[in-house]
Amino acid sequence: MSITKEEELTGMQKVSEAVAHTLKEMSNYAQPGMTTKQLDEYGAKILSDFGAKSAPYETYGFPGWTCISVNNEFCHGIPSNRILKEGDLINIDVSAELNGFWSDNGNSFVVGKDIHQHQKLVDASKEILHKAIYNIKGGVRISDVGHLIETEAKKRGFKVIKNLTGHGIGRSLHEAPSEIANYKDKYNQTRFRKNSVVAIETFISTTSSYADTLSDGWTMVGKNGGFMAQHEHTIVVTDGKPIILTEGNGVWN
Ligand code: CO
Ligand code: CO
Repeated sequence: MSITKEEELTGMQKVSEAVAHTLKEMSNYAQPGMTTKQLDEYGAKILSDFGAKSAPYETYGFPGWTCISVNNEFCHGIPSNRILKEGDLINIDVSAELNGFWSDNGNSFVVGKDIHQHQKLVDASKEILHKAIYNIKGGVRISDVGHLIETEAKKRGFKVIKNLTGHGIGRSLHEAPSEIANYKDKYNQTRFRKNSVVAIETFISTTSSYADTLSDGWTMVGKNGGFMAQHEHTIVVTDGKPIILTEGNGVWN
């Protein structure tokens, strides 16, 4: 969506606060011994206290309130009786609707002690998201930001996933521009527009360049295996620094 009046900015701020706070609380709550379903239900309660509705459930009938993906799972993981273990790489993605406005954010982190050395991948993804977002303003080509993300990933010895992308958002979960890729897509001549709302997400991986869907119809894993870290913020594009609507999720703290 494009922000044209104050109420629209306020609406986006409210739903963004709901998803950011929920993601932050879930990230703090996650610990070894807990199931991903327990973690999801904890998040669902926080979302409903805000009056917000799960976006993947509302939009796609996803079998959970938030997406929780562990280790080899990259994204869209279904909350289940899987028990979190020390050193697991986890991704929580929280998106929701409130009063007709939609926002989206995500966080990858290590559960407990980093006994499997995932932190380098996690830090790379966070730093790259920061760099990408602060390079976005009205008029910048989407493909140039994709190029930046891929270049930064390679510099750190990682790859990017080519078939997962960021997206426009605001009046629904996925809007135009529909593909904000993590690489230089030479066929995409689209530019970021001032006042538009977009969800910027990294997909930084150790081994794979493509993700495949498992037979459960939701969970995505690497075509060539490995691990992936994703961090995501919903932002408003301006002439200068973007407004980071989900900054309260604490991913950069
Ligand atoms: Co998301
Ligand atoms: Co998203």
